[in-house]
Amino acid sequence: MARKLVFAVNGERFELAQVDPSTTLLEFLRTQTRFRGPKLGCGEGGCGACVVLLSTYHPVNGQVKEFSISSCLTLLCSINFCSVTTSEGLGNSEDGFHPIHERFAGFHASQCGFCTPGMCMSLFSALTNADKTSRPEPPGGFSKITKTEAEKAIAGNLCRCTGYRSIVDVCKSFAANVDLEDLGLNTFWKKGNKDATVCRLPRHGHKRICTFPEFLKSEIKSSMDILDNFKNMGLPECQWYRPTSIEELYELLNSDAFLESHVKLVVGNTGSGVYKENDLYDKYIDLKGIPELSVIRRDSGGVSFGAAVTISMAIEVLKQKNESELHSNERLVFSKIADHMDKVATPFIRNMASLGGNLIMAQRSQFASDVATILLAAGSTICLQTASERLVLPLEEFLQRPPCDDRTVLINIHIPFSTSVMESSSGAKGCIDSEPTKEANILFETYRAAPRPLGNAIAYVNSAFLAHVTSYNISGDLVIHNIHLAFGAYGSEHAVRARKVENFLVGKSVTASVLLGAIKLLKETIIPNEHTPHSRYRSSLAIAFLFKFFQPLLKDLSVPEKNVQMSVSSAAATIENSNGCISGFADDLPRRASNVKQLDQANNPDLILSSEQMVEFCKDYHPVGDPIKKTGVELQASGEAIYVDDIPSPKYCLYGAFVNSTRPLAHIKGIKFKSTSSSQKAFTFIGADDIPKGGQNVGLSCQYGTESLFAHSLTECAGQPLGIVIAETQRQANMAAKQADVQYCTENLEPPILSVEDAVRRSSFFKVPPFLCPQKVGDLSKGMAEADHKILSAEVKLGSQYYFYMETQTALAIPDEDNCILVYTSTQCPEIAQGTIAKCLGIPAHNVRVITRRVGGGFGGKGPRSVPVATACALAAFRLRRPVRMYLDRKTDMIMTGGRHPMHINYSVGFKADGKITALHVDILVNAGITADVSIIIPCNMVSALKKYNWGALSFDIRLCKTNFSTKSAMRGPGEVQGTFIAESVIEHVASFLSIDVNSVRKKNLHTYDSLMLYYEGSTGDAPEYTLPTMIDELASSASYFDRLEIIRHFNSCNKWRKRGISLVPVVYQVVLRPTPGKVSILTDGSIVVEVGGIEIGQGLWTKVKQMTAFALGQLWVDGSQNLLDRVRIIQADTLSLVQGGLTAGSTTSEASCEAVRLSCNVLVDRLKSLKQSLEDKTGSISWDTLIFQANMQSVNLSESTYWVPEDASISYLNFGAAISEVEVDVLTGATIILRTDLVYDCGQSLNPAVDLGQIEGAFVQGIGFFMCEEYLENSDGLVISDGTWTYKIPTIDTIPRQFNVKLLNSGHHEKRVLSSKASGEPPLVLASSIHSATREAIIAARMEFSSPTGSDSSSSFRLEVPATMPVVKELCGLDNVEKYLKNLVSSHQVKA
Ligand SMILES: Cc1cc2nc3c(=O)[nH]c(=O)nc-3n(C[C@H](O)[C@H](O)[C@H](O)COP(=O)(O)OP(=O)(O)OC[C@H]3O[C@@H](n4cnc5c(N)ncnc54)[C@H](O)[C@@H]3O)c2cc1C
Ligand code: FES
Ligand code: FES
Repeated sequence: MARKLVFAVNGERFELAQVDPSTTLLEFLRTQTRFRGPKLGCGEGGCGACVVLLSTYHPVNGQVKEFSISSCLTLLCSINFCSVTTSEGLGNSEDGFHPIHERFAGFHASQCGFCTPGMCMSLFSALTNADKTSRPEPPGGFSKITKTEAEKAIAGNLCRCTGYRSIVDVCKSFAANVDLEDLGLNTFWKKGNKDATVCRLPRHGHKRICTFPEFLKSEIKSSMDILDNFKNMGLPECQWYRPTSIEELYELLNSDAFLESHVKLVVGNTGSGVYKENDLYDKYIDLKGIPELSVIRRDSGGVSFGAAVTISMAIEVLKQKNESELHSNERLVFSKIADHMDKVATPFIRNMASLGGNLIMAQRSQFASDVATILLAAGSTICLQTASERLVLPLEEFLQRPPCDDRTVLINIHIPFSTSVMESSSGAKGCIDSEPTKEANILFETYRAAPRPLGNAIAYVNSAFLAHVTSYNISGDLVIHNIHLAFGAYGSEHAVRARKVENFLVGKSVTASVLLGAIKLLKETIIPNEHTPHSRYRSSLAIAFLFKFFQPLLKDLSVPEKNVQMSVSSAAATIENSNGCISGFADDLPRRASNVKQLDQANNPDLILSSEQMVEFCKDYHPVGDPIKKTGVELQASGEAIYVDDIPSPKYCLYGAFVNSTRPLAHIKGIKFKSTSSSQKAFTFIGADDIPKGGQNVGLSCQYGTESLFAHSLTECAGQPLGIVIAETQRQANMAAKQADVQYCTENLEPPILSVEDAVRRSSFFKVPPFLCPQKVGDLSKGMAEADHKILSAEVKLGSQYYFYMETQTALAIPDEDNCILVYTSTQCPEIAQGTIAKCLGIPAHNVRVITRRVGGGFGGKGPRSVPVATACALAAFRLRRPVRMYLDRKTDMIMTGGRHPMHINYSVGFKADGKITALHVDILVNAGITADVSIIIPCNMVSALKKYNWGALSFDIRLCKTNFSTKSAMRGPGEVQGTFIAESVIEHVASFLSIDVNSVRKKNLHTYDSLMLYYEGSTGDAPEYTLPTMIDELASSASYFDRLEIIRHFNSCNKWRKRGISLVPVVYQVVLRPTPGKVSILTDGSIVVEVGGIEIGQGLWTKVKQMTAFALGQLWVDGSQNLLDRVRIIQADTLSLVQGGLTAGSTTSEASCEAVRLSCNVLVDRLKSLKQSLEDKTGSISWDTLIFQANMQSVNLSESTYWVPEDASISYLNFGAAISEVEVDVLTGATIILRTDLVYDCGQSLNPAVDLGQIEGAFVQGIGFFMCEEYLENSDGLVISDGTWTYKIPTIDTIPRQFNVKLLNSGHHEKRVLSSKASGEPPLVLASSIHSATREAIIAARMEFSSPTGSDSSSSFRLEVPATMPVVKELCGLDNVEKYLKNLVSSHQVKA
C-alpha cells in the first residue's frame, strides 16, 4: 500500500501522496497552504524569518516535544507525523491574537514586520520549553523563563528595522525575574507611574496552544505497529526512504535503483544552508529512522552520541546536572563542551542539526566546524561504517582521512572521560621530574572568536585545550603532565591537534619563556591556507587563545593584574567581554588559576541588556503626538499582513530568476544552459530580444537617468542582469538560472574601470547638474594662512553597505485586457516603476497599474533598485501572457542591488594650536557604479553633513565616478553617513596631531548660530531652534561623560588586555521636503479611507497619517469628542488611483504625507462645517455618523485630494542630535563590546514618539552595522562576494549596546514644520560613528600599553577602517602583543636574576 505523508499545520491535517522530496517545509507552507507567517529571508538558515515550531509525539510514552526549526532548510518529507505551528497558529485576527503578538504590538517591537512572525515563534518555543521545566511555578502571568534565557530566545533572528531593544523588552516581559518598570516605552502602562504590573500585560498562559492535535496522536497510535513501524516512515513513492537499520540502508544503497541515482543521505538537512544545492537529487535517505544513530549511551569510559543526535540534544545531555557519579573534572569538560555548542549556529538550527552531519561536513567539505575542534581536544573517537567494514577511529584520524564517499555512514561519536584520556595517554611522562605529585587537575577550555558572540557566525578561529596539570609539594610549580591543543576554522582543511606544541609543553612548568617557545612552534603549525581572509589575524588569534589558557598558570606573573570595579555611571561594572570566548577552570585548581578572572573577566555569557527611554509627549494635536501602536502591527506579528510574496499566485503563474553577469566588462557571445535536472525544468528564457515592438530595453527611467534592463551584447558590470529564466516554481527558476553558462569575450574592449583612480585616469564621471552642486564656504587660502598647523593630503577610504532588508526584491505581474498590466511590487517608488514599465513595454503609463501595500524593509534599496525587478517581471508576463512573479534569492539580491556609495577621500586641514580649525579642503572620489541612479544627490548630501562643524573655510572637489561596479543607490543617510564620518575623522586627526582631547576639539569647532546660518543658509530656522549646543552639554552631564572619562582612564591603566574608550559625537542633518499627494474620502458609514504618496516601509507612515487624519477631521468638534482614529484606514499605493506619488525617501515622506492629508481634511472640514452648524442649530449636538449621513443626503463632496508642495522658505530644515558611546576592546581578539550608548535627538513635537523612538534606535543599530561589522567584499571583477548571511553580518541582539538610553527632545513649536515635528528616519544612523570613535580611543589606549618606549608617538596616528571588525581592531592593537608581553616578562626576570 502506498504510504502517504501525513502531518498537521496549525491543527489542520495534511495528507500528501506525491511530493517532490526536495520540497522544503517553507516552500510547502507558503505555496500550498493559506499560512504566510513563515517568511523567506535568506533560505540558508541565517535569519530566522522562516522559524516555525515543530512538535513530535511519541506514541509509547505520550511525550510531545516542541522545538523551533528553520523551515527553509527542513525537508517536507522529514516531518511525517509531526505537527507544525506557525505564528498564525498562535493566534490571529479571527480567533484572537496571542499575548506574544499583543506584546510585540504594545512594546512597539515591529516595524516593517517581516521578521516578526519568526521572532514570535522563536520566543514561543523558548517559553514553551521553559514552562516544561521543573522550576518553581512563577507568579501568575509570567513564564518560567529567566531574563537571560528570554534575551537569548531570539539570538539567531535578524531584524533590520528595530535595533532589537524593543524586541528584547517583549521577551523579557515574560520573565518573572524582570523588573517590569525597567522595560521600555509601551502601550500597557505609562512610564514612571506605578502601573507596571504583570496584570497590565496580555496574560501569558491565558491562551493555551495545542501544538499537537489529538487526531494526529490517535492516527499515529492506531495506524502503526508502534515499536517497529513508527520509525519506518519512508515514502518510497516520493523517493524518500527511511531505513530502520544499517543493513537496510546498505540494501537500499546497493540496489539497482540506487546505484544509478543521485542520492542524498540526510538528517536535519541544515547542511544545505551551508553548501547550496544547485541541482536536484533523485532520492533521499533519511537516517533518522536508524535507532543506532540516535542512541545516547553513557558508560564507564565516557558518553556516546549516535551520529543523528542533534546538537541541542547533545547540549542537554552534556549539561545534565544530576550526574552525581561524575567527577568534577568530567562535569567541567562536558559543561564546557555544551557551552561551546550553545554558540554553534542558532537554536532553530541546533534543534535540527546533527553531530554526525556536522562532522561529515568537516571531514568531507572542509567545513569550519566548532564541533570537530572541541571534540578533538576532548580525545573523541568515532565509529564509521563504510561499504565494506565498520571502523572505530580517533576523531583526529577520521579528519585526516581522504574525504569519505557518500556511501560511508558515521555511526556514533564517543567523548571519553577526560581523566581517563589524560591519564591513560603516556604523554611524555619521562620528562617529568621525579617529585611525587600531590594534586592532579584537568583543565579544559574552549574558545571561539566570531563576529557575533552568541553564535550565528562562523568563527575566525576556534580552539579547545585539555590539559592534565600536576602541582608539586616543594616548589609549588604547576607542571603539564599531558595536553591536547586543538585548533579549527582558521583556514585549514580541518581541525588539527598542535602536536609539536603539545610535545614541547609536556613535562614543563608554564613560564613566560616556555610559553614563548610554545608560541614559536604554534606559529609553524597554525598556518591558514592561501587566500584565507585575515590570515595574519587568525594566526595571532591562535596565539591569543593559547595565552588566555596559560596566562593564569604563568609562573613568573607574580602580581595579578588589577581589576577595576566601575561606578554606577559606567555600564562596565556588570559587563563581561564574552565575544565568543568561553573559559573557566575546575574549582579545585590552585590559586593561580583564579587569575583567569582578571584576564578574562569577559566571561559572562549572559547578555543582560538594559535601556532607558525618555520621551516628552505633546498633547496639542491629539491624537497626533500620542505614542499609539503601529497600524496593523498584530497582523504583522501573526503573519497575516500581506507582503507582495504573500499574495496568492494567480492561475498559470510562472516564476522568474535572473541570470547575472559575472564579468565587469565583456561582450556576451551567448548564453547556454548546462544539461542538468534543474535546467530541464526551465520553461523559457526572457532577455533583451524579448522587448516588444515599440518598447525599449529600459530597467529604470527617472528624472536622474535611464538604464538598461538587460545587458544585450555587452555586460558592463558583474551582477548585471542578462535575462530571466522562467519556470513553474521559484525554486526551479532559481536552480535553472544557476545552470547558465555565459560565453564572454573581451576582444577590442578597454579594461574595465574597477577603481575610482581608474575612473579619474579615464575621465569617467557622471555629471552633477549645477542646481545640485554644493556651495563652498569662505576663502580656503585665507583660512589655511591663518592656521598654526596643517595636515596635508590625509586619506580616508569608505566601503559600501548592503541594505539587507529582510524581504528581498520581489514583484508579481499580471497581464490584463487591452494591453494593460497590473504589477504588485515591493517598492519605495511605484510611480517610477510605472513609468519604466510603460517605456519598456511600449505602452502608455495608464496601461500600467503598480500597487504596493507594504514593504518588508527598504532603507533606500527598494527605491530605484526595485524598478528593474518589477520591469523584468512585467516584461515576462507581457511576453508570455501569463502571470509571472519573482522573489529574488538573497545572493542574487546582494550581487545586483548594490548599496551605499564607497569612496576615497583626501583632505587637507589647517588649524590653530588650540584645535580651532581654520580651513578644510576635501577631495572625494565617489564610486557610483555603472549607472547614475540617484548618485547625483550624493555631493550635496555629503557636504551638508560635513558642514556640521565650523571649519572656517570649506572647499571641496567631489567627483562621481562611473565604474564597472554594480550601481550604487541611496542607502539610509546617503552621503550624510560618509560626510559625518569624514568630519569626525578630521577632528580626530587634528586632536591626535595636537595630542589633545578629541572632544575638546569637537566642542571648539561646533557652530555658533551665526556660523550655522552661514553654512546652512535658509535651513537654520530661528536661533532658539539651534538646540545642539545645549543638547550636548545636557547629554554630557546626564551620561556622566567626564566622570566616565576618568574612570576609563583608570580602567585602562589597570587592565592590559582590555581597553575602553568613550566618545561624544553630534549630528547636524539637513532634510528636504518634497511635494506629496494625499487623498481623504469619507464613506457613507462614516469610515474614512486615505491614500498617500508615501509607502509604508516600516517607518510608521500609515500610523502617523492615521493620527493626522483623526486630528484634522476631528477639529470639527472643538472638544475633540469624536474619536475618529479607528475609523481611518490607509490603503495601498495604487499608481492609477493617486498620481504623482513620488519617492519614499529622505526621512520626510511621513510628515509630507501627513501635511497633504491635513490639507485635504481641512477642505473636508470646511465643506462640513456649515452643515454641522445648521444641524446642531436644529438638533443640538450631533455625532460624526449623523453628520456624514446628512452630508451624503445633501450631496456634499466627501472626497478631497491635495498635492502638497512645500514652500521655498520651509523646504529644508536641520535636525540635531548627539550620542555618547562607550566600548570595550578585547586586545587579544579584537572584539569590541558596546558597553553603553546615550543618545539624545531633537524630534520637534513628535507626531508619534513611539514610532520615532523605533526609527532612532533602528537607524542607530543600522549605523553600528556600517561602522563596526558589515564587510562588503567584492572579487577582483567587482562581483559581490559578501553575498548571504554567512558572509555579511548585520548587527544581532548580541552586538547592540548593552545599555542603550535614548532621549527624544521636544524642542517645542516650529512654525514651519508639519505640526512642529521633525524627521527621525535617517539622522540617528550617523550617530553610530560615536562607537567607531570610541573604539579608536580604546585602540589608542591599547597601542600606548604595548608601544615601545621609542614608538609611543605612533599610538594615535592611525586610521581605523570602516567597518572596524575584529581583525581590523586587533591588527591596530598589535598582532604580536602577546609575544611582546612575554618577551618583556622574560627579560625583566633575567634582569632580576
Ligand atoms: C546557519 C547555520 C549556522 C551554522 N553555524 C555553525 C557553527 O557556528 N559551528 C559549527 O560547527 N557548525 C555550524 N553549522 C553547521 C551545522 O552544525 C551543520 O549544518 C549540521 O550539524 C549538519 O547536520 P544535519 O543533520 O543538518 O546534516 P545534513 O544537512 O542532513 O547533512 C550534512 C551532510 O552530511 C551527510 N551526513 C549527515 N549525517 C551523516 C551520517 N551519519 N553519515 C554520513 N553522512 C552523513 C549528508 O549526506 C550531507 O552531505 C551551521 C549551520 C547553519 C545552517
Ligand atoms: S529564511 Fe530560513 S533562516 Fe532565513
Ligand atoms: S521589523 Fe524586523 S526586519 Fe523589519
